[in-house]
Amino acid sequence: MTEASDRDAVIAALDSVVDPKSGRGLMAAGLVRGLVVGDGKAGFALEIAAADAAAYAPVRDAAEAALLAIPGIQRAHVVLTAQQAPPRPARGAGLSRAALDQGRPPAPVATERPADVRRVIAVASGKGGVGKSTVAVNLAVALSRRGLTVGLLDADVYGPSIPLMLGLQGAPQHDGERLVPLESHGIKAMSTGLLVGADRAMVWRGPMASQALTQMLTQTRWGTADAPLDVLIVDLPPGTGDVQLTLVQKTPIDGAIIVSTPQEAALADARRAVAMFAKTGTPVIGLVENMSGPVFGRGGGAREAERLKVAFLGSIPLDAAVREGGDAGVPVVLGKSDGEAATVIAALAAVIAG
Ligand SMILES: Nc1ncnc2c1ncn2[C@@H]1O[C@H](COP(=O)(O)OP(=O)(O)O)[C@@H](O)[C@H]1O
Ligand SMILES: [Mg+2]
Repeated sequence: MTEASDRDAVIAALDSVVDPKSGRGLMAAGLVRGLVVGDGKAGFALEIAAADAAAYAPVRDAAEAALLAIPGIQRAHVVLTAQQAPPRPARGAGLSRAALDQGRPPAPVATERPADVRRVIAVASGKGGVGKSTVAVNLAVALSRRGLTVGLLDADVYGPSIPLMLGLQGAPQHDGERLVPLESHGIKAMSTGLLVGADRAMVWRGPMASQALTQMLTQTRWGTADAPLDVLIVDLPPGTGDVQLTLVQKTPIDGAIIVSTPQEAALADARRAVAMFAKTGTPVIGLVENMSGPVFGRGGGAREAERLKVAFLGSIPLDAAVREGGDAGVPVVLGKSDGEAATVIAALAAVIAG
């Protein structure tokens, strides 16, 4: 049997197993994550609410039996994963406690680059509220306007704001194989906020955040093998704690852009972000100063970049049009494309586009 027909047979088999909650097949119910088929093996994660773990144990067994009934499949492996972290999750594991208690090994975390993305650029900050998402969204749109195919992955599980800033609505569909990103202003976008709602994303602890990011990175239809996406921008969660470190280690980042406001406190956090990337061997493309002007000052970013020996990528002024564009879902590079903020971001896009 060919790999492709194996996969079709597996999908059909999984749809013959009924999800007790929705009454639909497992594929149709959208519970199947990370399906891997090959070498006589098939496996996936069954994604359910943590509270439903016990109720789904028989469903997992039925799914394994259905896979093993397919000619050519000798081994089947199905793990239950919780959508939401238990109150005190075990460190380093993304699986539900139920799955761990059953002695099942954690699903391997894919760290390899998705085949359908050429370049992954992370936007990071030591601190929240400095304009990281604003820069990520506007940079994505500016790159798209230069003719590149661009994706935007909102990995900020603590405050997913990309849906608002791109004016996205609705949930991404699963095409039986991968998640189909939503599109706005020519950008393909995926966000934890779209998958589970911003309020629920916020309760995720480290392992869940890491697993969610890996899934969105590797299981989204960003491009095709023939026409890979030119650039994927990743809006990382703010901070330099264990969660961020793990995300950075597990994500194939080609370069990172650090965003900071001009004040000393924010710059000290930016310094920690640069140190974090150095620790993981991730190249830092440079530092962007945001919200510069009479309120927060100006020039701190350039001085800090020089001190840190990273490139200074420009200074975006504090401008109400930037915030209004974000709130309205029309990034300022489109809404007020001749303003200073848009001009600085267009120049940043020129650097990134190379
Ligand atoms: N240059 C700017 N001028 C005015 N408002 C800005 C600017 N940059 C960001 N903002 C606003 O500040 C708030 C925080 O920005 P955001 O991009 O969400 O920060 P972060 O992602 O770092 O938490 C948002 O309301 C955003 O619209
Ligand atoms: Mg943000």
